[in-house]
Amino acid sequence: MSERSDHAASAEIAAIIERNWAVVSAVIVVFLAGMAAFAGIHQATMPQARVETTNPTTLHLGGEFVETNLGSSVEPDGSVTVRAIGQQYSFTPSCILVPAETPLIFRATSADVVHGFIIQGTNINTMLVPGYISVQTARFSQPGEHLMPCQEFCSVGHEGMWAKVKVIDKADFMKMAATERRLSCAK
Ligand code: CUA
Repeated sequence: MSERSDHAASAEIAAIIERNWAVVSAVIVVFLAGMAAFAGIHQATMPQARVETTNPTTLHLGGEFVETNLGSSVEPDGSVTVRAIGQQYSFTPSCILVPAETPLIFRATSADVVHGFIIQGTNINTMLVPGYISVQTARFSQPGEHLMPCQEFCSVGHEGMWAKVKVIDKADFMKMAATERRLSCAK
């Protein structure tokens, strides 16, 4: 074989290897872009499946957010569900009682306009939109008190709309929960 054809042969091999790697990187890019597109489109088109709705005009008449069902309750799995509503210009309960070191689920909605639901010192920050149930999970590592101001302008009384979250020792909470179906600071 001449030196010239040697050179041509190795150039051809190099070209094949280069093309193969180009194909590999193109496949990776297409795969990643495909995943991003799938996740984006899926989230944009599917949220309805997870949205829970409620009728804001009949909250007080019955169902999950009737007044006697608001507050904190212990679930069979040991977690605690807190149900609350916001209305111009207060939250019910106005003082939410929860145990420390326990998985919590907050379920809340609005009886009138859009309110804000934020618990200071935590990453809980959502909006209460009439007609929809806002769900947030939380866990407090220690007892303490957290302010819960409405953080969405909801008309003239907005500044005065706030509640409190009181985190107490888990054993104390469970003792109270044994005799009360729904708990708040008041009882
Ligand atoms: Cu409710 Cu601002």
